[in-house]
Amino acid sequence: MAQHAMQMNGVQITWLGHATFKFTTPEGKIILIDPWTYSNPVCPEEYKHIEKVDLILVTHGHNDHTGDLMKFAGENSPTVVAIVELGKWFASKGVKNVFTMNIGGIIHIQGVKVTMTKAIHTSSVDEEPFAYVGVAAGYVIEFSNRRRIYHAGDTAAFNDMQLIHKIYKPDVALLPIGDHHTMGPEEAAFATQLLRVNHVIPMHYGLPGSTGTPAALRNALNALGLNDVEMIEMKPGQTIS
Ligand code: NI
Ligand code: MN
Repeated sequence: MAQHAMQMNGVQITWLGHATFKFTTPEGKIILIDPWTYSNPVCPEEYKHIEKVDLILVTHGHNDHTGDLMKFAGENSPTVVAIVELGKWFASKGVKNVFTMNIGGIIHIQGVKVTMTKAIHTSSVDEEPFAYVGVAAGYVIEFSNRRRIYHAGDTAAFNDMQLIHKIYKPDVALLPIGDHHTMGPEEAAFATQLLRVNHVIPMHYGLPGSTGTPAALRNALNALGLNDVEMIEMKPGQTIS
């Protein structure tokens, strides 16, 4: 069977490097997930600044996911979605328009349907005293054209990914593959199998300490018989639609 190229029907996906993605909705709204551009060493210079952001989704508190939140939140006060404890911490630091939710919850916001999903990871922010800020999460984003993107956040593979498939049926999964701080390519291949997605975009690799590569994910997918799954290897700054 041949692979089927992904059709996002008017949704644009831009990878800004690491776990940071920008989605443009069919209505032209700009959604940023895990805002880390200015201080992200793999984000190309011309993509660090984004003129207009309508919605920011945050998976967890670690600096490689929230490092530039204050800058984006200060520029045009987008809605910032996070789990309750992390959202309260943002608000305590002066972030306006914080909208908190929790795992399993669904919100309709800026023309998209957003579900917060489980992730197996920790969540803290760098301050004294050291602060835990709830648990780490992922998101399923459904657009007005019914296309659905699953951003796993930082996580290991977990069996409940089957439930994410059953309930939300994502078209494409954005999965960390770097290893060390998240799952590596082999677990990501099992995650792909549990999620039953036809398209996977590897992320969260390429920085010091990360050993996982897209080539290793491709091999691991094939080893599970998932030759038909399209692995889309993006370059930081690249947009697909
Ligand atoms: Ni993390
Ligand atoms: Mn991370």
